[in-house]
Amino acid sequence: EMTDVAIIGAGPAGLTLANLLQRNGISCVVLEARDRSYVEERQRAGILDHYGSEIFAAAGLAEAVIAGAPREQFLELRYEGEPHLFDGPAHAGGRSGVLVPQQLLVRRLLTTFLAGGGDLRFATPVDRINIKENRMVYAGGELTASYIAGCDGFHGVSRRSIPAAALTTYSFDHGIGWYTVLADAPPPRHALMGISEHGFAAQFGRGPKASRFYLQYDLGAGDPREWPDDHTWDQLRLRLGDPALPTGPITDREIVEMRSFVTEPMAYANLFLAGDAAHIITPMGAKGMNLALADAGVLATALTAALHDGDDAALRSYSDTCLRRTWDYQEFSRWFTEMVHDAAAAEDPFRRRLAKARFDRLWTNPKAADWFADMMAGTALI
Ligand code: APR
Repeated sequence: EMTDVAIIGAGPAGLTLANLLQRNGISCVVLEARDRSYVEERQRAGILDHYGSEIFAAAGLAEAVIAGAPREQFLELRYEGEPHLFDGPAHAGGRSGVLVPQQLLVRRLLTTFLAGGGDLRFATPVDRINIKENRMVYAGGELTASYIAGCDGFHGVSRRSIPAAALTTYSFDHGIGWYTVLADAPPPRHALMGISEHGFAAQFGRGPKASRFYLQYDLGAGDPREWPDDHTWDQLRLRLGDPALPTGPITDREIVEMRSFVTEPMAYANLFLAGDAAHIITPMGAKGMNLALADAGVLATALTAALHDGDDAALRSYSDTCLRRTWDYQEFSRWFTEMVHDAAAAEDPFRRRLAKARFDRLWTNPKAADWFADMMAGTALI
């Protein structure tokens, strides 16, 4: 069996690529390891930045993918309980992100691709990729493609198929623990982050009646999922500086990793890595899903030029193009992470003061505020 482009993985990266190629009249097959309900129900990211939504708008997919999604406006940052309201769109020429839970984005991308006659095979894990022959082997079959898009996430088969000597990997662990709980507690007025010597905390709305909370915890001080709920609420009240914080039953408890990882290059022969397969990023700044979509956007344009016009220049520079944005966002995420966590760095008072200076600059230097808003909105960069 043969196709122009084989896409491994139906997460945000693979599904975005599949839809963009379909719009451009390029034939592709998507092979996804899991079944449809798993893919549709996996909860993760929630913010599509302005640049991410532009990718869909440019392809005429805005209505199908982001219709009705509320715009992101204010971010409230509380420093030891003292509120500061950041109006991102006002500092970014009106550009704002939209709140699109990943499940909704994935479901809409799936529906659109299938409605357009797309070939997407669930429960079809790729076991092996023969890069020399552009061939993928899965239980019950084989597929040969002119190009392969490895959109199979951090644990997928694509990156592992590239000879180790051809790749350089970079990783960074912040040494910070994040504990998150979902609760039937009313959402905050604005997305809310608390900076405190007691540790970072945050609260984001999840629909009209629920909130997701985040708390920094000490690695090595036991599993926070075993904290009594009273302790969780006490810590949230303390760090968010709100003794009257409305609470509610906790319905989900999870640990979030604060790790970053980048693979260079993001391509080998005719295999191109996109999204988590190539890089992961700490959640501060909400860039993980947006990076995945940006890779898919660049790859779709490059594959279309190669397959329609026989011009592979953009494909050859795919990795360099995507790595520029990847490192730019990595730097932003680390900058943001340090700003909101280092207030709790009791062992390093110098770093604490630096984090305060970083925070103060946002409210005293309009150019710094513009830069912050620009990074939040996402950048075309090329
Ligand atoms: N064969 C086929 N499919 C595979 C294989 C395989 N061998 N291995 C993994 N997959 C599938 C997974 O089941 C998953 O559906 O690839 C998909 C990868 O999806 P994601 O992990 O969501 O990766 P990506 O599309 O790059 O999106 C990354 O989304 O959730 C956020 O934090 C994440 O923000 C980041 C972004």
